[in-house]
Amino acid sequence: MRIALEVWRQRSPEEPGRFVRYETAEASPDMSLLELLDVVNEGLVQNGEEPIAFDSDCREGICGTCGFMVNGLAHGPLQGAAACQVYLRNFRDGETLWIEPFRAKAFPLIKDLVINRSALDRIIAAGGYVTVNTGNAPEANTSTIPKDLAEQAMDAAACIACGACIAACPNTSAALFTGAKITHLGKLPEGQPERGRRALRMVRAAAVEGFGHCTFAGECETACPKSIPLQVITQMNHDYLAARLRGEGRAQPRHIEPGTPKRRR
Ligand code: SF4
Ligand code: FES
Repeated sequence: MRIALEVWRQRSPEEPGRFVRYETAEASPDMSLLELLDVVNEGLVQNGEEPIAFDSDCREGICGTCGFMVNGLAHGPLQGAAACQVYLRNFRDGETLWIEPFRAKAFPLIKDLVINRSALDRIIAAGGYVTVNTGNAPEANTSTIPKDLAEQAMDAAACIACGACIAACPNTSAALFTGAKITHLGKLPEGQPERGRRALRMVRAAAVEGFGHCTFAGECETACPKSIPLQVITQMNHDYLAARLRGEGRAQPRHIEPGTPKRRR
């Protein structure tokens, strides 16, 4: 089959980028889109040209490393699939595919299709953890977690931090990602001690990183390769507001010893 690629090429953030057309006669329906990029890159290297920079690792929808826009859709046209799980049989013979990086202020471009997604790591570092000593994995049947809660936690834990929800959102909001991480821990007993603090810190971290506000446009849910549901955003809002109403996260008044001289302003 014949597939033409229009790929965003940009050597560095400082230089302007543009779409460059690539055509190859080696495309086959059973080839993945990333394999087609590999073939194009082999040709570029053989010609002494710079290969297209793109991220990938597992190539089976697990690691969250891959991700770019295909014809304006984050990860391409397949629902519930990452870019590495898109095959050429999902396109028409003779089609031209427009491939460009995820675009968001908080995802600075590094090169071609590669962006820096470390803002997502910083959101997790702000509160995506538990501090209780969980010990070794318990025997499954001794667990007292209701099945529906365990399933909701597992569904939220499926998030692979790819950033497609952000690229698809008209506000570049990280609400689906942050909500997934908050829900994943907040549904389980081990996640309760920090539940309020976690929501406050992670929501604030997302704002500090420059992600936008959620207006429930719903594009994120459609683009998510792990089909994370919008309900995780409701959970995030609930935990955040409950923590605010409880007064969590407010600055504690400093204890000042009597007789301490006032600091000059
Ligand atoms: S919520 Fe879905 S789209 Fe967003 S980062 Fe997680 S897996 Fe990717
Ligand atoms: S390469 Fe790992 S999810 Fe695509």
